[in-house]
Amino acid sequence: MIKAVETNGRAGGGNGDAHGHGDHPAVRKVRVRILRQDVAAGESYWERFEVPYEPNMNVISVLQKIAALARTPDGRRVAPVAWDCSCLEEVCGSCTMLINGRTRMACSALVDRLLEEDAGEIELKPMSKFPVVRDLVVDRRRLFRSLERVQAWVPVDDSYDHGPGPRIAPEDQQDAYPLAECISCGCCLEACPQFTKIEVTRREGEPEAEFEARRRDAFDAAFLGAHAISQAMLFNSHPTGRMIADERLEAVTGRGGIQMCGNAQNCVAVCPKRIPLTRSIARAGRAATVWAIKKLFDR
Ligand code: SF4
Ligand code: SF4
Ligand code: FES
Repeated sequence: MIKAVETNGRAGGGNGDAHGHGDHPAVRKVRVRILRQDVAAGESYWERFEVPYEPNMNVISVLQKIAALARTPDGRRVAPVAWDCSCLEEVCGSCTMLINGRTRMACSALVDRLLEEDAGEIELKPMSKFPVVRDLVVDRRRLFRSLERVQAWVPVDDSYDHGPGPRIAPEDQQDAYPLAECISCGCCLEACPQFTKIEVTRREGEPEAEFEARRRDAFDAAFLGAHAISQAMLFNSHPTGRMIADERLEAVTGRGGIQMCGNAQNCVAVCPKRIPLTRSIARAGRAATVWAIKKLFDR
């Protein structure tokens, strides 16, 4: 049974249940514990909130209620909690956070289910593999830099109409479609033991361009991540995209490339789109071997 918390602090259904049957629904509360941080590179601290329970809420609606209240249960006014979201339907990939210790999308994390896991409280933390900007908002630019490193796009060098593109066989479409569902949410990176946090801070007086170059170099030396490896395989399988297949393989086998993958398979277990990441990684491994042999003979 789903349980919410009554205003007197007792957990449980009382004379009714958490769906508001029986007792006055206004007394039902959902408790939330949020790991907050006021500024980038600042100290983090826990803060508790309570919001009125409603059936079928997701974590984003809870956060919206918390923002509207901007008060702790003891009435103290606090700055509204910051978080990222956009589409609210698991498409934009921006709302990833650690919910009850698990990396997932806040928009599809249903409160009723979370309360089934832990009736006492819902715990929200920012992703741990990216620098915190504020509260639950993280700086995910490294995720996008990895996509740049493997050129995760079909190159188009002009805007003329070249007529219809090449036909793709239905079985190839079926093979590629699951990979095209990636929403760049970063769940696979959060779960990956090889993808470790990189936080480059600006030195005093350092020009913006130098700082950017230093940060980019740090990103480029580190593991690409499963999402980028999978996207490289997607675009290398596309009839137009494969024009730069060698460049992608160069990136996939270069610094921070596939050789860093420890095959722990955590990535595939947490992907909200159930993308067959381990299949992509295995495919990339085979392509990398062929690529290495080809390079040997090309010398
Ligand atoms: S299989 Fe590779 S990419 Fe996936 S979690 Fe393991 S180390 Fe990371
Ligand atoms: S591969 Fe899955 S978990 Fe990783 S970024 Fe794409 S959708 Fe998210
Ligand atoms: S808000 Fe877009 S994926 Fe959650």
